[in-house]
Amino acid sequence: MDKLLIQGGVPLSGEIVISGAKNAALPILCASLLSSEPLELHNVPQLKDISTMLRLLRQMGVEVSDEGSEQLLLNSRGLDNPLAPYDMVKTMRAAILVLGPLLARHGEARVSLPGGCAIGARPVEQHIKGLQAMGAEIHVEHGYVHARAKGKRGLVGARIITDMVTVTGTENLMMAAVLAQGETVIENAAREPEVVDLANCLVSMGAQIAGAGTDRIRIQGVERLHGATHAIMADRIETGTYLCAAAATGGRIRLTNTSAAYLDAVVDKLFDAGCELFTERSAITLQAPQRLKAVSIRTSPYPAFPTDMQAQFMAINCVAEGSAVIRETIFENRFMHAVELIRLGADIKIDASNAMVTGVDHLDGATVMATDLRASASLVIAGLVAQGETTIDRIYHLDRGYERIEEKLGQLGARVRRIR
Ligand code: EPU
Repeated sequence: MDKLLIQGGVPLSGEIVISGAKNAALPILCASLLSSEPLELHNVPQLKDISTMLRLLRQMGVEVSDEGSEQLLLNSRGLDNPLAPYDMVKTMRAAILVLGPLLARHGEARVSLPGGCAIGARPVEQHIKGLQAMGAEIHVEHGYVHARAKGKRGLVGARIITDMVTVTGTENLMMAAVLAQGETVIENAAREPEVVDLANCLVSMGAQIAGAGTDRIRIQGVERLHGATHAIMADRIETGTYLCAAAATGGRIRLTNTSAAYLDAVVDKLFDAGCELFTERSAITLQAPQRLKAVSIRTSPYPAFPTDMQAQFMAINCVAEGSAVIRETIFENRFMHAVELIRLGADIKIDASNAMVTGVDHLDGATVMATDLRASASLVIAGLVAQGETTIDRIYHLDRGYERIEEKLGQLGARVRRIR
C-alpha cells in the first residue's frame, strides 16, 4: 500500500490547474448507458474511482476509447450485461448510479447493494423507492438489487418525494426518468452543482429536464437519447481542499480551470478565517493571513457548507487562533480524521455530531492513517503544516478523488513524496 511522506512547514505558493469533478464525472459516465450513440466527454479526471467505473461499464458491454486521457469516448450500443458485481460496488459505492440508466434503457439490472461505509451506513432505499414509484419491480436478494421494468409500459413517470436530500438518489432517478413514459417530478431534489452538470449533459443528449439546481426537477420522458459532447465541470471540492492547504500553511496560490461560483459557503468561511480571495471567471487566488482565525461550520446540503469540506476545515481550525465548533449533519460517522489529527497534536473534543476544535501553536509530524477520501485530505493539510515529517498510510483513499496530488502539491512547493 502506498504511503505519502510530507515534510511540513512550507507555505504553499504558485499555480495549479484544477481537474474535472469526480462526483460529476461518475454519474455522467453512467449516463452513457442511456443511449446507443457515442458520448464524448472532456475534462475527465484521472482517478481510481473513474477507472473503477470504466471497468464496470466495460464489463457491461460499453466500449471505452482513450482511457487515461482527459477526453473519453463511450459507446454503449453493445450493452448486454446489466450487472454491477459486489467486488466493484464494494470499492466504489457510486456504482449504484448504473441502476437508473440500466432500468431505463435495458429494462433490467442486477446491482450489488453497497454495504456500509467508513463515514456512515449510507443506505440506498430512496433510490429503490423512487424507481418502484416509476413502476420498476425490485427485490433485494443475496445482497443484490434485482430490478425489472419490462413489458410494454417500461418505466412510467411519477411524482417522487425523497425523505431526505440525496445527491446520487436524485441523479439515479433523473437518469431513469429521461426515458420513462410521461412526466416525472422529483421533489426535495438535491441542488448540488454536480446534479446540474449531469442534467446539462442529459439535455445535450436530447433529454427534457427543467428545474435542475432547484429542489423540484421536472423530467418529460423521451423515446430515445442521442450522442453528445460534454465537458465535466471543475471539481469544487478539490478546489476547496487546495484553498484550505494554502490557508493553513500561510501561503498564496492561484487555482485555474475552476471557479468560485459553486463555492460560496466555503469562500465565505475562508474569508471569515482571515484569508483574502481574488476571483476571476475561471481562476481563484488565495492569500493567507499571518494566523488564521477559528471558524465554526455546520454541514448541510448545497448551497450550504458541504460535508465533503468538513474534514479540511477541521484541519485548518487545528492551527487557527481560538476555538470553533464543527457540526456534521449529513453523515453519522464522519469524524474519523479527528483521532488522527489528535496524534499530530491537535486539540479536538468530539461530542456526537459536534467537534470542538481549539487551535494550537503548532502540530508535530507523526504517522497517521487515512480512513476515507476527505479524511485523507485533512491529514495532508495537517501534515503540510506540522513540524517535521508526517507519514500518511492507506492513501489509496486519496487516489480515489485527488488527481496526481503529490505532483500538484509539489508544483506549489510542498515537500511531498509517495512511497510505494
Ligand atoms: N441517505 C439515506 N437513504 C438513501 C440515500 C441517502 O438514508 O437512499 C442518507 C445518507 O446515508 C446520508 C444522506 O442521506 O446520510 C445524504 O446522502 P447522499 O445520498 O446525498 O450521498 P451520496 O449521494 O451517497 C454524494 C457524494 C458524496 C457526498 C454526498 C453528500 C457522489 C458520488 N458522492 O454521496 O461524496 O459526501 O453526496 O454531499 O456524488 C466524496 O466525494 O468524498 C463523497 C463522499
